[in-house]
Amino acid sequence: MIATAPYGPYWRQMRKFATIELLSNHRLNLLKHGRESEVKTSLQRLYQLWNKKKCSNGDKVLVEMKRWFRDVTLNNLVHEFFELAGKFVVADALPFLRWLDIGGEEKRMKKVYKELDQLVEGWLREHREKIAENEANSEEDFMGVMLSKLRDVEEHDANTINKATSLNLVLAAEDTTSITMTWALALLLNNRDALDKVQQELDIHVGKDKLLISESDTKNLVYLQSIIKETLRLYPPAPLSVTHEAIKNCTVDGYDVSAGTWLIFNLHKIHRDPHIWTDPSEFRPERFMTTHKDFDVRGNNFELIPFGSGRRMCPGISFALQVLQLTLANVLHWFEFKTPSGEAVDMREAPGLTSPKATPLEVYISPRLPAFVYNSNT
Ligand code: HEM
Repeated sequence: MIATAPYGPYWRQMRKFATIELLSNHRLNLLKHGRESEVKTSLQRLYQLWNKKKCSNGDKVLVEMKRWFRDVTLNNLVHEFFELAGKFVVADALPFLRWLDIGGEEKRMKKVYKELDQLVEGWLREHREKIAENEANSEEDFMGVMLSKLRDVEEHDANTINKATSLNLVLAAEDTTSITMTWALALLLNNRDALDKVQQELDIHVGKDKLLISESDTKNLVYLQSIIKETLRLYPPAPLSVTHEAIKNCTVDGYDVSAGTWLIFNLHKIHRDPHIWTDPSEFRPERFMTTHKDFDVRGNNFELIPFGSGRRMCPGISFALQVLQLTLANVLHWFEFKTPSGEAVDMREAPGLTSPKATPLEVYISPRLPAFVYNSNT
């Protein structure tokens, strides 16, 4: 997989390939309608759920949003993978305990791996069948493009490379994005002023008579963009980034580092460093419109690196930001959110390689726009 491959020709080729064929601005633009229609379908389902259940409890309906954000992306299998992968990092640090397989995690990991493999195997089979039926359709998505590019590679290797790369992209994208959306909504529920302010921004730039917000509309939503940065600062979904390993002896900032040394970044700590951030644990999106206006999350400001920095930096930044902006803008535009009895949201994090919210995010939803706007569009 790209994320675990050592630096070398294979990593370079696969990363270049993923960047050009899936994550480039050109490709992202081509796939824009797919993203917009996925978000629309998920919101329509949420609205229909509200419509069906509303009578039993006034016009409010209780929904678990952590699961909803996960469903917008993919499924729980991916989440289980990261939870277990986090435990494996611990097992690697204490290898003498590993053979005991305390808690049966190694066994569970093998089972999850097998299920994930079967999932991508199924996608690959579908693609091959499609190509056999109709060559013209074969390049409509990443796996299809990969199949055609790997045409000259021996079939078993081509299948392995295709499955590993496609699965890596799904794994890297799925959990991180849905976790960030859950934290963003949880933070807004605990900071109602910010929630009001972002909804006002939506009213000004989109208007209450329009239902669907497109990706091009999100460019004007600067407060929403600041909310996303502040969420990624406080709750980086990969709090320890991805482990780096020195491939040869080197010197970093005056320290001698020998080959094989692991470097683990504590992004969570960097992002809350009181020497850098005023009121580091407070949710203050405004900082990205004032004191930290020029800060981005693209690895240029080492104080804020939720996607890492440098050569191994996340190649999915633009994709992730687009999905986050599009989904959050729409969900906040369509619905009002309230916690049951107005209590604060529990902000505890679950352990793992990624850091999801430990408990469900149960909220009451009700439509925010006039009824005719939904009725003419759903
Ligand atoms: C909020 C969303 C996301 C966050 C916070 C995030 C964060 C990260 C981080 C911290 C790394 C490790 C960087 C390093 O080693 O220095 C990484 C690597 C990676 N990410 Fe993301 N990511 C996100 C979404 C995505 C998406 C949407 C994709 C692709 C569709 C993606 C694909 C990858 C890949 C392939 C790597 C491995 C890169 C390499 O080793 O060369 N990520 N990501």
